[in-house]
Amino acid sequence: MSNLENLCCPLDQSALQRQERTLVCAHGHSFDIAKTGYVNLLPVQKKHSKDPGDSKEMVASRRAFLSNGYYDPVIEAVLASLPDSLASANSLDVLDAGCGEGHYLRQLTEKLSATRDVSAVGLDISKWAITDASKRSKTIDWIVGSNAHVPVTSGRFDWLICAFGFPVFEEFHRVLNDAGYLLLIESGADHLIELRQVLYPEIKPYRATFAEGIEGFDLVQEKNHRFSFSLSTQEDIGQLLSMTPHIHKAPYEGRKAAQALQQIDLTADIKLRWYQKQGKSHAK
Ligand SMILES: C[S@@+](CC[C@H](N)C(=O)[O-])C[C@H]1O[C@@H](n2cnc3c(N)ncnc32)[C@H](O)[C@@H]1O
Repeated sequence: MSNLENLCCPLDQSALQRQERTLVCAHGHSFDIAKTGYVNLLPVQKKHSKDPGDSKEMVASRRAFLSNGYYDPVIEAVLASLPDSLASANSLDVLDAGCGEGHYLRQLTEKLSATRDVSAVGLDISKWAITDASKRSKTIDWIVGSNAHVPVTSGRFDWLICAFGFPVFEEFHRVLNDAGYLLLIESGADHLIELRQVLYPEIKPYRATFAEGIEGFDLVQEKNHRFSFSLSTQEDIGQLLSMTPHIHKAPYEGRKAAQALQQIDLTADIKLRWYQKQGKSHAK
């Protein structure tokens, strides 16, 4: 069951205690638990826009696309690459930071729970994403909040996932325990190359992210995982487009050409990078 424990007040970072349908801190700030079970820990003062994160439409597209299973090989690749100490642990405390509508966290939690206790938290700045996620899993704690100020106690997690998201490494470092792992899932050089060739007049050269390393973390494993899939309806192609940044970045002509496609064979090229938090003596 979701329990909403070990959370912090987003206004003053003090511990939140549950009082029936509300979380309350020692200074009297209170946050109601929504009917579907999530809690919004993104106060107006910390919002940079009225409706931050993915829109209702983007969330609906991602849900529809992912629930068709097109990206499920990513989940298999994550499980296959799990570091030994996580794979053999009897219990796992995991955070998906920027979890979207929760497809990956839900699947991973379900699979890993077969052989160990899993306590999972999904955090996203989009209230639409978290509302959707909270309707479909009651065993995960779902929180509206920002990676910039993760509203949880320090040193809590064994594992933090950031998939196609917006990492804030200082915060990730803080909320991981001393030997905790950070998994970054990102696009590789050829990710959706066939779609990008339709969208853009010219494909920009691939630039690796965080090539200089990440302060406070050691890179312990890097894997590229490629697989192919085909979309054979305009609806599926439109949903994929709507859940990628290309929907905003691609020129109008490119988007029009993509939206007119009836079928496309695609390459998924995913980069999985596992980092381990450096010991206390190394961390900043
Ligand atoms: C490309 S989507 C990826 C969603 C999910 N991880 C997946 O792979 O299906 C990026 C997500 O990050 C969320 N997001 C954007 N800025 C964020 C922030 N500062 N903190 C937490 N989530 C954020 C968006 O609302 C969106 O759901």
